[in-house]
Amino acid sequence: MCGIVGYTGYREAAEVCRLGLLRLEYRGYDSYGIATLSPSLSVYKHVGKISDSATSSNHLRGDTGIGHTRWATHGVPSEKNAHPHLDAKKKIAVVHNGIIENYAELRRGLEERGVVFASDTDTEVIPHLIAEHYTKNLFQAVESILPMLKGSYALLIITEGEDTLVAARNGSPLVLGVGDGEYVLGSDALPLLDYTRQAVYFEDGDTAEITRDGFTIHNKGVSVSRNITEIEWNADEAKKGGYQHYMLKEIFEQPEVFANTLSSIKSKSEAVDMIRNAHAITIVACGTSANASMIFSYLMEGICHIPTRVILASEFKYFPTMFTDLVIGVSQSGETADTLAALKLAKDRGSQTLAITNVLGSTITRVASLVLYTRAGPEMSVAATKSFTSQVAAFLQIVNLLSDYKLETELSEIKRYLPEILSTDLSKAVDLCKNATTLLYIGRGLFYPVALEGALKMKEISYIHAEGYAAGELKHGPFALLSPKTPVISTCVSNCVYPVMMSNLKEIKARNAPIIVIGKNCDKDLEDVADVCIPLPAVSEYGAVVLSSVILQLLAYQTAVSLGNDVDMPRNLAKSVTVE
Ligand code: M6R
Repeated sequence: MCGIVGYTGYREAAEVCRLGLLRLEYRGYDSYGIATLSPSLSVYKHVGKISDSATSSNHLRGDTGIGHTRWATHGVPSEKNAHPHLDAKKKIAVVHNGIIENYAELRRGLEERGVVFASDTDTEVIPHLIAEHYTKNLFQAVESILPMLKGSYALLIITEGEDTLVAARNGSPLVLGVGDGEYVLGSDALPLLDYTRQAVYFEDGDTAEITRDGFTIHNKGVSVSRNITEIEWNADEAKKGGYQHYMLKEIFEQPEVFANTLSSIKSKSEAVDMIRNAHAITIVACGTSANASMIFSYLMEGICHIPTRVILASEFKYFPTMFTDLVIGVSQSGETADTLAALKLAKDRGSQTLAITNVLGSTITRVASLVLYTRAGPEMSVAATKSFTSQVAAFLQIVNLLSDYKLETELSEIKRYLPEILSTDLSKAVDLCKNATTLLYIGRGLFYPVALEGALKMKEISYIHAEGYAAGELKHGPFALLSPKTPVISTCVSNCVYPVMMSNLKEIKARNAPIIVIGKNCDKDLEDVADVCIPLPAVSEYGAVVLSSVILQLLAYQTAVSLGNDVDMPRNLAKSVTVE
């Protein structure tokens, strides 16, 4: 939620910031803004997406600057609420990612001292507080006001009269790219990639003073040194590469991602040992990561016989007695506030903690005792696709390594069929979906989380109401919704639940709801019951889980495109949910 960038060096800072913000736009896209020093402070703000902006920040001059792309928390998206925020004399500029929880109290105090506010944001208290404490040294002024702030922040600050960029981190991510005679800062590593692969990941409590000649970092008033890490991603991975949307590119990357993730997980690893030795596991995750984790829980219970449950990370704290020896936090971004909070709580309760994430250096990697990377590469689309498949690949590989029942054949089948599933013709299914008022996704066993994920994908980018249900639950209420305008979507393969799924589908057909079914080669029974049958190759149940999930991603994508929606940046959403 919100992305920030900063630059100091020899280039035009406004352009570096604008390009960096484009890379961070997945974090929020209500409005954006840039400030540069040349040597006076110039500011540009725009309501809406950077890519849609008719005007631009190109007129801003100077080789030091900061920028921000916003996902509104305090105050509607508008020019006055867009960052950077300034002090009353318009000399100090601040961009902020996070939430200042005590801003109302701080604002009241500032107003009593005569400060007039220009925005509704929590952030604006920061430049005013710095101005009150400023005596010709920005870094010192920032250090003196930070103890007043409660909440989370990644901050970048500049002021007229100093060639310094000041950064501070507490609970929100911030990375410093170390280039040759230049420094680039970002909420993640993506804005850095065109300039350097050398990165310093700030820790909570760090404040930094950066000039084009070097940087120093303090923590609790003491100078500290931080390791420089090599970023594994490259700039091309974060580009659309000829695809119309990031989401489509990421869907098409899945054959490679699936294979990469499988091969990256080794039997002799501390993370796999940690899972092997657990008596019971709790997984905390949100959204797509929670759906993928549910697949893991079915696999762990069914094959490895280790009790494994998934608790939505935002609910974990409401189960105060919950304790398992191992708690796993699953998060693509590694920055989801609820997942981080749940994992910290689990640690406090004495559980061992493991993070499964895609992003090197993300906050979750510092919270958990051990980390396992899914290695899906940068995921730019708000709708998660390849990260889901990489998480499922990781889970299948873990189960393969832990159990006596080897999944090698099943995993090879998935690798073989993933490329061909991408060209499945979904036109008839899209026609049914795009005219629907509600879509119900149903499944049993491993296909219940597949249904949940299919529905999540559809609703977030098509804006059609879609719900995932365990097929057995349909008669306990949702049946009342069935009508010719509520298609029901299901994966139905020949496993132990096939007969009961067939009965469920017939009951649905008897109530005139259209049926879209994904089934192995669409046998006669399925053809009879379904309005649209989408064929799967003859793969195992595990193969059907992965392949049908990819089909449901494509169905959501094609439906959203046919409705003319902005697939990569759906309304009201942001990719990284860094607030509770
Ligand atoms: O980065 P995380 O995996 O922790 O993100 C969790 C959810 O916010 C995320 O999966 C979200 O549900 C996706 N936009 C769904 O496509």
